[in-house]
Amino acid sequence: MSNALKEYLDFCQNRVERALDARLPGENILPQKLHRAMRYSTLDGGKRMRPMLTYCTGKTLGVAPETLDGPACAVEFIHVYSLIHDDLPAMDDDDLRRGKATCHVAFDEATAILTGDALQALAFETLANDPSITASAENRLKMISVLTKASGSQGMVGGQAIDLQSVGTSLTLPELENMHIHKTGALIRASVNMATLAKADIDPDVAKKLDNYAKCIGLSFQVKDDILDEESDTATLGKTQGKDKDNNKPTYPALLGMDGAKQKAQELHELALDNLSIFGSEADLLRDLSLYIIQRDH
Ligand code: IPE
Ligand code: IPE
Ligand code: MG
Ligand code: MG
Ligand code: MG
Repeated sequence: MSNALKEYLDFCQNRVERALDARLPGENILPQKLHRAMRYSTLDGGKRMRPMLTYCTGKTLGVAPETLDGPACAVEFIHVYSLIHDDLPAMDDDDLRRGKATCHVAFDEATAILTGDALQALAFETLANDPSITASAENRLKMISVLTKASGSQGMVGGQAIDLQSVGTSLTLPELENMHIHKTGALIRASVNMATLAKADIDPDVAKKLDNYAKCIGLSFQVKDDILDEESDTATLGKTQGKDKDNNKPTYPALLGMDGAKQKAQELHELALDNLSIFGSEADLLRDLSLYIIQRDH
């Protein structure tokens, strides 16, 4: 990871940790168990790649991080909810997440379901009301629309539905790509697009390039996740290695072989960079982030 990226990632991780903490209800507020579970699953863990993307896109466009705390937290709330539900026995049945017991193991299944539900609602409450957002009312509404679509049946949840119905089947490459674009790509795309909506009167061509960049890294992110599931180890990942094979999931390494999957990730990275060619050095963090996504070890 470049020094500049490391420095900005540290800054964003600290920033979003404080912002998430401030927006989550306190553990002493009723219902305490639910609020404890929301804080347990959200705070102190994860790479915070989606908030990082929101802040980095803002930095490229000259949008101040203080005005992006709302969207950065909102997308992380949706992401954490998706992880809690993804880990449930009815889905991937995982007991380890971010190096700790999954929500349904640390609490119980009903609490884990409700924790996801509550985080989802909190995400949209944040976009609707958060004072950090200084965008016009029209653009705030567009942010809500972007995150709603990215979360729902034609976004992340739709991708998860395809994932579950594909267990034990063999997908074609376009089908696999479609699943990944939805289950993971959609929220990554929303992370970037909410930041472009924070920029008043953005040039539509610039917004389009950033959206295309986000599509590429959204897919490469899940390709790399599939690669790591096979190649990494549980301690480094903070989640159980080898679950995709155990659960008979169609993945990029399963379909293309490990070399083919790595080649695909590299191609997506190059395509991501092509979409940033209209920018100068102000987009260097986005360039570094795309490389980090395919080179990371967890
Ligand atoms: C894991 O996401 C689930 C996917 C969508 C691939 P991350 O790898 O971003 O998980 P955290 O947030 O760092 O724990
Ligand atoms: C999950 O994909 C994508 C989500 C929407 C949560 P995975 O099932 O591969 O994520 P991990 O590997 O459990 O983090
Ligand atoms: Mg899954
Ligand atoms: Mg999973
Ligand atoms: Mg995975």
